[in-house]
Amino acid sequence: MVGIKALHIAALVIWCGGLFYLPGLFMLHPRAVDQAGFHRLRMLTRFTFAFVVSPAAVIAIISGTALVHYRQAHGEWLMWKLLLVCLMVFFHLYCGGLVARLGRERMAHGRTWSAGLLAVPSLLVPLVLWMVLGKPSFLFAAAP
Ligand code: HEM
Repeated sequence: MVGIKALHIAALVIWCGGLFYLPGLFMLHPRAVDQAGFHRLRMLTRFTFAFVVSPAAVIAIISGTALVHYRQAHGEWLMWKLLLVCLMVFFHLYCGGLVARLGRERMAHGRTWSAGLLAVPSLLVPLVLWMVLGKPSFLFAAAP
């Protein structure tokens, strides 16, 4: 159980870190001056997404599901957490779409757009942590 939790935390640290790192990499794309620089940056972005961030996401989700099973976790906090994790998955897939397009064309969005993307994990990650560490109750809290 401790091993699964450690795996869960290690994987989510890498996943969450990657969701911050990818927009940072996207910001560098418009600054690549020559073809060789652009190619190197593109390879780094694709490698990071395919071999670091995506496997970490899969491990975080599988180990989280195992924790639900072993700890018999339930409650409102878990519902909110899973909802927020779904939004993280959507953001992950959106970044994946941008990475896939890099194979065919240069980054369509400017640096401001990529910087704005940082707002998404900045909002979602603390909210997920709040749900799991604080286990708040919103819907049923006011019941007398
Ligand atoms: C489908 C995805 C996920 C599932 C099903 C899941 C489920 C769980 C469960 C059941 C626990 C044990 C909670 C307890 O009993 O106190 C746990 C622990 C934890 N989860 Fe997740 N989780 C998922 C993704 C995430 C993500 C994306 C984050 C962070 C952004 C996260 C952060 C944590 C942390 C920090 C703990 C340790 C909490 C503690 O020991 O007090 N989880 N997770």
